[in-house]
Amino acid sequence: MKINYYGHSCFSVIVNAKCLLFDPFITPNKLAKGIEIEKIKADYILVSHGHEDHIADAIRIAHLTGAVIISNYEICEWLMKQGVKSTHPMNTGGKWMFDFGKVKCVKAEHSSALPDSTYGGNPMGFIIESTEGNFYYSGDTALTYDMKLIGDYRKLDLAFLPIGDNFTMGMDNAIIASDFIKCNKVIGMHYDTFDFIKINHKEAQNKFQRAGKELTLFKIGETIDFEFKSL
Ligand code: NI
Ligand code: MN
Repeated sequence: MKINYYGHSCFSVIVNAKCLLFDPFITPNKLAKGIEIEKIKADYILVSHGHEDHIADAIRIAHLTGAVIISNYEICEWLMKQGVKSTHPMNTGGKWMFDFGKVKCVKAEHSSALPDSTYGGNPMGFIIESTEGNFYYSGDTALTYDMKLIGDYRKLDLAFLPIGDNFTMGMDNAIIASDFIKCNKVIGMHYDTFDFIKINHKEAQNKFQRAGKELTLFKIGETIDFEFKSL
């Protein structure tokens, strides 16, 4: 599974030859100046909630690539009004089999309003199940006891978790979350972009290591290939 990082919480993951782009926030991100959004590939764009720092470039990239946007019902309705042609509306608890694998929407403890203040439905996380591996993209969320349900639901190979604190859980709670979801391989997100969420990378790495876990912090623009044996 090839994973690219475009800054903040924006990653693309290649699953069964389809490119899934999560929470595109690139052009307003000063740290992601080196990324040209015209070059970003996407077959699907998954949007966890309506906040600007997760949806800013979704419309433009959908136009450029023809990607289908997967999000909650309210966000999909709003996107269609903004001229997006193809969406797949879902909501918390629901799952759907796509051509790359299965997407299950899970609860995120956060808020969700669209950039023009339209109601943005419930914030969500996504569990992606595929023949190439299973992973959880939590979106913006607090640590919740509900994450234990995710650990009971599927064996995960990898989890994308926020570690920047202030707006979401921080690194200490992300370590507990990784216990709840029973997944020790974590990719950190939602850190460093704004003053409130700047973190000490070394401290984060050390804390995860001490807890017997592996934290990967991508450089913006970096690609890492993860291989899993799960079926
Ligand atoms: Ni948010
Ligand atoms: Mn956010």
